[in-house]
Amino acid sequence: MRVDVLTLFPGIFSGPLDHSILLKAREAGLLTIAVHDLREFAEGKHRVTDEPPLGGGGGMVMKPEPIFAGVEALRERFGPGKAVLLSPQGETLTSSLARRLAPEEHLILICGRYEGVDQRVADHLADLEVSIGDYVLTGGELPALVLIDAVARFLPGVLGDPMASTRDSFEEGLLEAPQYTRPRLFRGHAVPEVLLSGDHAAVEEWRREEALRRTRERRPDLVTRISHKGS
Ligand code: ADE
Repeated sequence: MRVDVLTLFPGIFSGPLDHSILLKAREAGLLTIAVHDLREFAEGKHRVTDEPPLGGGGGMVMKPEPIFAGVEALRERFGPGKAVLLSPQGETLTSSLARRLAPEEHLILICGRYEGVDQRVADHLADLEVSIGDYVLTGGELPALVLIDAVARFLPGVLGDPMASTRDSFEEGLLEAPQYTRPRLFRGHAVPEVLLSGDHAAVEEWRREEALRRTRERRPDLVTRISHKGS
């Protein structure tokens, strides 16, 4: 998968993409990420990318021209790409949305800043608008990183264990069961006996029950969603 990012702050992306699994995925050629400064696509001596909103009101709004020019240039250079605008108004990022995006060959992520982005970007350029949750961040850069990470886990070959992404929380609509490692007894706290039993069926059964118990306790909304799915 190729991911192009359009941002006013390319520096934010150095670091998170340069470690661990995302670095390995990039080195293995499974994921190519290029970060572009939106200002490069802005015209005029001052390369202005934002202006006060029409109709008044505070703050600044990102102008449409550099964003359209950036997406169009990237599509010309690297082929058709699905343009995703990160914004609090978008569809909420879930495991199933990340899985849906994983087969795409080319994503173009547009990071908003300031008070927002001219609506014509969402209406006439972006294929999809994505939010990472019901809170407002200072910009779309961290959401873009979250989206890249969540999608990368579903790219074939990125996780060492091909089944890992299907065992995680949310994949079956449930949170994950608790995990333990050695020592068996730590500061007086023992690990559940069943995990030491060597009885794989009993371990599986225990994990399923724990996952259900945890989900009921912490995310009853997910349990409701599963029971409605089956009916
Ligand atoms: N930009 C600001 N807040 C955001 C959010 N929650 N999700 C996506 N983009 C954003």
